[in-house]
Amino acid sequence: MQQIKNIVEIQDFALESRRAGKTIALVPTMGYLHDGHLMLMKKAREKADLVIVSIFVNPIQFGPNEDLDRYPQDLEGDLAKCRAVGVDVVFTPTNEDLYPDLFQTSVDVKEISKGLCGAGRPGHFQGVTTVVSKLFNLTLPNIAFFGEKDFQQLAVIRRMVIDLNFPIEIIGVPIVRENDGLAMSSRNANLPDRERKEAANIYQALSQAKSLYEQGNRESDQLCRAVLNQLEEKFESPYQVEYIKLYDAFNLTEINGLITTPAVMLIAVHLSGTRLIDNLQL
Ligand code: PAF
Repeated sequence: MQQIKNIVEIQDFALESRRAGKTIALVPTMGYLHDGHLMLMKKAREKADLVIVSIFVNPIQFGPNEDLDRYPQDLEGDLAKCRAVGVDVVFTPTNEDLYPDLFQTSVDVKEISKGLCGAGRPGHFQGVTTVVSKLFNLTLPNIAFFGEKDFQQLAVIRRMVIDLNFPIEIIGVPIVRENDGLAMSSRNANLPDRERKEAANIYQALSQAKSLYEQGNRESDQLCRAVLNQLEEKFESPYQVEYIKLYDAFNLTEINGLITTPAVMLIAVHLSGTRLIDNLQL
């Protein structure tokens, strides 16, 4: 496995590999890798000749009052994990190389970036789509893998790839959960013990709403209310629900009222200064 830091070197590597007829899978990450990331890499390993993992904490997708400074990092540990699952190249660009002086271009997927996380984190998806476009141009993948935990991000990237004609297949990989159901996330490392334990209530509340749906309840507001009630009952630590919503799982529009299409329930919760997101398809 090689580590490439330089943007010219990675693009040369990708160009030569593609000219030699090799297929490339890209797994973009911000590091502090967990089993969810490793699942993306294993899927990538099955699908392409070469697997490139990028590790870059992208400053432009964080707002001024967000957790850029507290974002956990462990490059040595990450490299060992990548090596263990058979990654070929880990791309670790620098901030200065990706965003040199005078940098001023961005990619904006206008509509589906607006709600959910986009409402609470203005500019976030523009930062994501800008860096992902750059990573696509630098690593020239045939396929790229993203986790379904970031359900809106996945939809935004799929839209961008269609709209901008990137010749790349986007594959979404189901959420990997801890034993108690908490969706794996690098940010879980920032939770104190008590909040970490209580964070499992988020998935349990979503699962309970899904049971109600399976029993025939099709009212979006009742299902969202059931989640809120369950959280209120179970949490002892202070917490704040940023949103709990039902969306059409395909076109990512909000469902208010009767659910008649395949739907996904999405939630964002703040717990001890850490923002957790999760979702469950109904
Ligand atoms: O999902 C993430 O980790 C990031 O948003 C991504 C896709 C690597 C872009 O920085």
